[in-house]
Amino acid sequence: MRFAGIIALAALLTAGAVRATDIPPGERRSGYSFMTPDTQAMQDDDTANPGMLWVLDGEALWKRKVGTSDKACADCHGDARATMKGISARYPAFDKALGRPVDLEQRINLCRVNHQQASPLPYESSGLLALTALVARQSRGIAIETGAAPQLEPFVAKGRELFMQRQGQLNLGCTNCHDDNWDKRLAGSAITQAHPTGYPLYRLEWQSLGSLQRRLRACITGIRAQAYDYGAPELVELELYLMSRARGMAVEAPAVRP
Ligand code: HEC
Ligand code: HEC
Repeated sequence: MRFAGIIALAALLTAGAVRATDIPPGERRSGYSFMTPDTQAMQDDDTANPGMLWVLDGEALWKRKVGTSDKACADCHGDARATMKGISARYPAFDKALGRPVDLEQRINLCRVNHQQASPLPYESSGLLALTALVARQSRGIAIETGAAPQLEPFVAKGRELFMQRQGQLNLGCTNCHDDNWDKRLAGSAITQAHPTGYPLYRLEWQSLGSLQRRLRACITGIRAQAYDYGAPELVELELYLMSRARGMAVEAPAVRP
């Protein structure tokens, strides 16, 4: 993120009152609606959307036998287009064995480890991005329903607390930008409401597909705070809060963002 230093931020925060109020459901907007028509067109057209390259890789990996079990995802789950439909619209989800929420990347790695007897794939590796993109693609257009399970409540609450809490050298909470100032721009970028409708998504700035955790770590570093490690419970709780805050909005994965 191109935060142009303290001056732009100071101007932003004196211009906009710091209120930390929730956005009413009727006023929620996807990051898509803040983009230029050119970038929107790139997302809308599968032949122009670079994220579809990862989906294609994911299709190949889906059929590849790996691990000691010598099983492919397809051997258990069949055709992803049918069996993975709607799945990403309810992640992160509660995992009974672990007693906590897991995001889609962690869920895929649980299958790698428990069902394929293979090693987990690192966050942001091409393999994990490809498999996640393939699974998430099957929910495109489906309304997000994450956070419905009652066991998730305390974790959603923790995520919300993290979202509200001021942190870092800039002493800002996520809410101060994404609830209070989403109608403003920061060093040329629209601030947006931070609805994670499109992940994993292709960012022009990254020149790559990236996970929601990568995006969250970039915002945390932007406020000059220490970013949690990939897979940390705090990041999953933030993902969970953001997804439940976006309930009812349509999945766009793989989206494109500037
Ligand atoms: C040996 C069979 C097997 C293989 C191989 C396997 N899975 Fe699974 N998968 C399961 C089972 C069983 C579940 C239900 C949860 C559990 O018991 O772990 C599951 C659950 C899932 C879910 C969550 C579905 C939901 O409703 O929440 C996803 C996503 C998933 N698998 C993706 C994958 C991917 C991607 C691969 C390949 C990398 C894969 N699985 C390989 C058996 C398998
Ligand atoms: C100083 C303002 C600021 C703060 C504080 C901030 N962000 Fe952001 N965030 C941005 C901007 C600006 C973007 C737009 C992307 C860009 O071009 O950098 C963004 C993008 C995002 C997105 C991507 C939305 C999409 O459409 O894909 C998410 C999710 C997000 N932020 C979450 C968070 C979370 C969670 C926190 C707190 C840990 C946070 N942000 C803190 C400014 C901020």
